[in-house]
Amino acid sequence: MLEAQNVSQRNGKINIVLQHKKNENNHQIKDKYIVKNPFNHIDDKFSSFIGLSKLKQTVNEIYAILTINKKRQEMGLTTTKQVLHMLFKGNPGTGKTSVARQLAKIYYDMEVLSKGHFIEAERADLVGEYIGQTAQKTRNIIQKSMGGILFIDEAYSLARGGEKDFGKEAIDTLVKHMEDKQNDFVLILAGYPNEMEYFLKLNPGLTSRFPFIIDFDDYNINQLIEIAKQMATEREYQLTKEAEWKMRSYLYKQQADTVTNFSNARCVRNVIEYAIRMQAVRLIHQENHSTDDLIYLTEEDLNIQE
Ligand SMILES: Nc1ncnc2c1ncn2[C@@H]1O[C@H](COP(=O)(O)OP(=O)(O)OP(=O)(O)O)[C@@H](O)[C@H]1O
Ligand SMILES: [Mg+2]
Repeated sequence: MLEAQNVSQRNGKINIVLQHKKNENNHQIKDKYIVKNPFNHIDDKFSSFIGLSKLKQTVNEIYAILTINKKRQEMGLTTTKQVLHMLFKGNPGTGKTSVARQLAKIYYDMEVLSKGHFIEAERADLVGEYIGQTAQKTRNIIQKSMGGILFIDEAYSLARGGEKDFGKEAIDTLVKHMEDKQNDFVLILAGYPNEMEYFLKLNPGLTSRFPFIIDFDDYNINQLIEIAKQMATEREYQLTKEAEWKMRSYLYKQQADTVTNFSNARCVRNVIEYAIRMQAVRLIHQENHSTDDLIYLTEEDLNIQE
């Protein structure tokens, strides 16, 4: 440092070179102790999802273990194969399907999955009508899912008919294949919380086979409003302040209503899409439209039937 200053009095150019070197050294030291956020690229992929902190945390952990395992492998250390099958529990519209879809892309980028495609199946896709058909149908779906994610919605419906039901055969076939270490696919079973609890109770062996059981909590009002604004922005619309208040009070009522099953972000999407239609109907009666007219969804457009 002192030396650099002395040199600077004699020759500014040399000083610059010396300073530069010093910075480089600093960088090298910092790099060693991680300056960058290693989860940046995952955060980016989830940036359009509001909330879901537990899920995001879990994916970061998976990324960390996979990356460090790779390093261990390079050094000749033992690594255990990471089982990534998951259970998603959450009420309607909490993001289970959308997240699973996004995970397929993320796992592909992480080189966990070779293809990264997403296959969505339900009971009817797996369960046959006569003996032997179910195992065959389930195997076919698993085959199609190789290299990607197999997402089974309303998974508890597989346990619907009890011991004698063919759903049991589908579960057994799935379990057999998910444990086969050669298989390159991730199985995600999803469903509503109570039903999934019941499903796991009926199949106690399953819990230990799914290292990741993720709860998708209901969104709070602020999160729902944030989702609404984002959905509007994605479509190049905006909510006026009054429209936002109207949306807020509508969501409060819907959430408090215990008779209908509140559908969280899907409810928000429906309201936004409804408002967009109502705005169009309102504007079609007008001769001239400013850009603001075309962009803003007003309180009037949110005149939702309650
Ligand atoms: N965290 C979020 N941020 C932004 N949008 C979201 C979020 N969660 C869900 N959505 C949106 O809400 C809608 C419904 O989500 P999705 O279909 O994934 O819910 P789900 O949990 O699978 O519902 P269901 O149980 O009824 O199948 C989608 O349009 C999705 O993009
Ligand atoms: Mg869904």
